[in-house]
Amino acid sequence: MKDIYSAVKVSDHVYWVGAIDWTIRDFHGYTTPHGSTYNAYLVMADEITLIDTVKAPFMDEMLSRIKSIVDPAQIKYIISNHSEMDHSGCLPQVIDLVKPKKVFASVMGTKTLNELFHDQSEITAVKDGETLSLGNMELTFMETRMIHWPDSMFTYLAKDQLLFSQDAFGMHWATQERFADELPAANLEYEAATYYANIVLPYSPIVLKALDKVLATGWDIKIFAPDHGPIWRKDLGWIIELYKKWASQKPTAKAVVVYATMWHSTEKMARAISEALATAGIKVKLLSMNETHRSEVVYEVLNAGALIVGSPTLNNNILPQMADVMTYLKGLKPANLIGAAFGSYGWSGESVKDLEVWLKEMKVEIAAEAVSVKNVPDSDVLEKCAELGKKIAAELIRKTANS
Ligand code: FEO
Repeated sequence: MKDIYSAVKVSDHVYWVGAIDWTIRDFHGYTTPHGSTYNAYLVMADEITLIDTVKAPFMDEMLSRIKSIVDPAQIKYIISNHSEMDHSGCLPQVIDLVKPKKVFASVMGTKTLNELFHDQSEITAVKDGETLSLGNMELTFMETRMIHWPDSMFTYLAKDQLLFSQDAFGMHWATQERFADELPAANLEYEAATYYANIVLPYSPIVLKALDKVLATGWDIKIFAPDHGPIWRKDLGWIIELYKKWASQKPTAKAVVVYATMWHSTEKMARAISEALATAGIKVKLLSMNETHRSEVVYEVLNAGALIVGSPTLNNNILPQMADVMTYLKGLKPANLIGAAFGSYGWSGESVKDLEVWLKEMKVEIAAEAVSVKNVPDSDVLEKCAELGKKIAAELIRKTANS
């Protein structure tokens, strides 16, 4: 059968040979309503080199794209920039098929690939700053541990002024367009921010250091070629500045109110808090976990200054939808937030205290006294909720005026 997939030229010597996953909707808890791509790249040097592979079920698509340029048996080197299985899932089969002279990964990458696939002893470790000659050009490696796994590294191809950035600057967005400049900026920003919030956020301090480290190399970079989503070949400063903004997590005059409700009491409280915040000039996002996915919550929290959480008490606990989102948020470590808790109860009433414990564990500064009500809030309780909103608003205005 004739191969139906084609490579896409990225630069003088580099082709995109990845795969488009139009149907994936979940990435370990992060919803991906617009699918994703797994980007692999072919460097047509004297020593033909494949940068990363793809998720296992997409190997044939990748090989088909490679074949549109060269017989895969001509590949001499494979570089694994990131060993997570969306980029290495088919690596053992590709090694068997291609029989490259050498496969390279970071020091941590060789360990991780062995733990994932076992008996990958032929993988050669490269150190931070090491170079590899491909004959008529060379690659330089830079460790970027924890962006997004301990094994992660960037690879720089000076000849084409191109940085293979694996997960960094990526997004989960399945498109036929291969370049960011072919896509609407608003969608790019939304998808990149959602990806950052759901994948990269916990490593924000490391991201800032990595950006400095790349700048310190003096590399002349004209193209970012990430492992997901479109390739950046114009206005790289735009995505770099967004990364700096998201990674620095400076407080803003925005509050995210997240709640779940049983019989609308907690919902009434959430609305009273939100209205008071908005009246005080704060941008508000009100999200009911009865209807909202956790991924959207962390996207909204990415550029917020306050997180206010509410739940009724169910069987001495918070509602399971709230436990879900609090677990997810805690793991993603949003920083520099103030917050408060609220909720209703029928008899035992543990939920509000429990939510305060969650917030404190997340290092959210409690900036207003919690509001808790037995059964349905009356106008006095709703006034207390409004006071909570006003107090958070005043603190946000004070903090953002000083930042
Ligand atoms: Fe796209 Fe961390 O893998």
